[in-house]
Amino acid sequence: MKKILITGCLGQIGSELTHRLRVMYGAENVIATDIRHIEGNPVIEGGTFEILDVMDYEAMLGLCKKYEVDTLMHLAALLSAVGEAKPKFAWDLNMGGLMNALEVSRELNLKLFIPSSIAAFGPGTPVDMTPQDTVQRPTTMYGVTKVSGELLCDYYFTKYGVDVRGVRFPGLISYKTLPGGGTTDYAVDIYYEALKNKKYTSFIGKGTYMDMMYMPDAIDAIIQLMEADPSRLKHRNAFNITAMSFEPEQIAASIKKFIPEFEISYNVDPVRQGIANSWPNSIDASAAHEEWDFNPQYDLDRMTKDMLENLSEKLGIPFRELALA
Ligand code: SER
Repeated sequence: MKKILITGCLGQIGSELTHRLRVMYGAENVIATDIRHIEGNPVIEGGTFEILDVMDYEAMLGLCKKYEVDTLMHLAALLSAVGEAKPKFAWDLNMGGLMNALEVSRELNLKLFIPSSIAAFGPGTPVDMTPQDTVQRPTTMYGVTKVSGELLCDYYFTKYGVDVRGVRFPGLISYKTLPGGGTTDYAVDIYYEALKNKKYTSFIGKGTYMDMMYMPDAIDAIIQLMEADPSRLKHRNAFNITAMSFEPEQIAASIKKFIPEFEISYNVDPVRQGIANSWPNSIDASAAHEEWDFNPQYDLDRMTKDMLENLSEKLGIPFRELALA
């Protein structure tokens, strides 16, 4: 990777990935794009930024040519809960954007990163330690686009030799940019509310386990996979990755170590609960460990400490820190 163009840069992953890549590869070598412009946003201020609608093939091709990029990272997509509210649009955007990214990469011989998700699994999937290769059949539109995307990426590699790589992300937790309408978002919201109000009403029910990962580990994983020796990659696309699996009571207990007064209560949203119930409890990331040394650094308590410290500073709300048990 020498010159990289990223789509969806103002989103939860994009905003942090853009910053990290600019530090590592030089600001002049990372082209940030998004469909929106947000005045004063650090991604826009920190280097080259272009407006790009990923549904516009010619525009995507034109920008990749203009900046002579060798790598494309395609992040622009709709998440699970928004996808259920707007299924047709989710299909059009997620598949249309992906097809354009694959075609541009084929045409210009680019290396391509495509994120998939735990949403690519469904109710028929083994729920505990879900294997890398197993039954998928998701029941959400987001999941349908993700599993279709995984297949398309494999197709473009096999048929055309496009060097497309990807992971199945679990819920991603971060303090810089909010996620845009997913099912795992409760695990981000809870930290904001813990600091602001010392209580949180969860839209995901007690006992619902989902895989999660802290954003620094997610960014490391993207870069590590893209830099990995291709001869070691047996899967190439859609690697299961995860750093932890927890249910709401466990994240609440972790927060209580730092904010003892914190209380969690529940008001379950049937749509997002239904989505969560169709996903695995925990996935097996051994293929990623074996093929490109995936090795996340943050467990739940370490993530909680970092989230609370950074959010405390961001929101200007101090919190009492207790020693970790
Ligand atoms: N975090 C995503 C969502 O909840 C899963 O990929 O939609």
